[in-house]
Amino acid sequence: MRLEGKVVFITGAGSGMGRVACRIFAREGARLVATDIAQGPLGEAVREVESAGGKIVAVPGDVAEPADVERAVKEGVRAFGRLDVLYNNAGIFPDDDGSVVDTPLSTLDWTLDVNLKGVFYCCKYGVPALLAAGGGSIVNIASFVALVGCTVPQDAYTTSKGGVIALTRSLAVQYGKQGIRANAICPGPIETPLLRQILSDPAKRALRLNRIPLGRFGKPEDVVHAALFLASDESAWMTGTTFVVDGGITVNYF
Ligand SMILES: NC(=O)c1ccc[n+]([C@@H]2O[C@H](COP(=O)([O-])OP(=O)(O)OC[C@H]3O[C@@H](n4cnc5c(N)ncnc54)[C@H](O)[C@@H]3O)[C@@H](O)[C@H]2O)c1
Repeated sequence: MRLEGKVVFITGAGSGMGRVACRIFAREGARLVATDIAQGPLGEAVREVESAGGKIVAVPGDVAEPADVERAVKEGVRAFGRLDVLYNNAGIFPDDDGSVVDTPLSTLDWTLDVNLKGVFYCCKYGVPALLAAGGGSIVNIASFVALVGCTVPQDAYTTSKGGVIALTRSLAVQYGKQGIRANAICPGPIETPLLRQILSDPAKRALRLNRIPLGRFGKPEDVVHAALFLASDESAWMTGTTFVVDGGITVNYF
């Protein structure tokens, strides 16, 4: 098993890619410290992992609230004695996020609070736990929109994800000698509840699909398998990277 003996802290565990990650990581031997703001879906993730024989402790909370994150890390360490992986996955994509001119400031604040400051808080409270364990792996979920411009903008989201990539590189450089690796994943459009609004509109769906060389939207598993590699010791000499999992969308000129 590829994560045997490892304790993985994961945010946004109740839905989409986080939910699938719980299932796959537990199957690979990880013990999970799972958190989400949505308690019902988090409970379902717990039941799914436990019914397959996996080990998981759930701590509901908001990644945008530092006290919630600190508590989740503490409860995880109390339950399993250590943390080896921070899988910072929770994120939002508000419907009214558009250009800098159109996006309400409240949407900008909310997006930065969850997508960027949430990752910062998880690292703030999680890195000491990784150091205490003698090192570990940080997997931060960014997005392909932080790598290319887009004429149909979501500028608050893009700003938040660009910050995640910059923070990831900084962590990689600071903590490499202490055995902590930090990598960011940049998913392309993945069929999860996050994109439900866009992908249920035939015109919006076709516009995006047309840009993807591999001819389909991503599945949660496409990203989770990359995260599994980055969380495991198989990627022991990788740090500071932006790992692009996007069906080729970012290399498509026409
Ligand atoms: N789906 C895509 O196309 C896509 C593309 C690129 C990047 N991403 C990123 O991947 C990550 C996972 O997205 P997904 O598609 O699985 O989305 P999703 O909406 O299915 O799941 C996100 C989870 O995060 C939780 N969450 C939201 N706000 C939270 C908060 N404040 N505190 C704690 N939990 C919170 C939600 O309750 C939900 O369970 C996000 O960071 C997203 O930005 C998604």
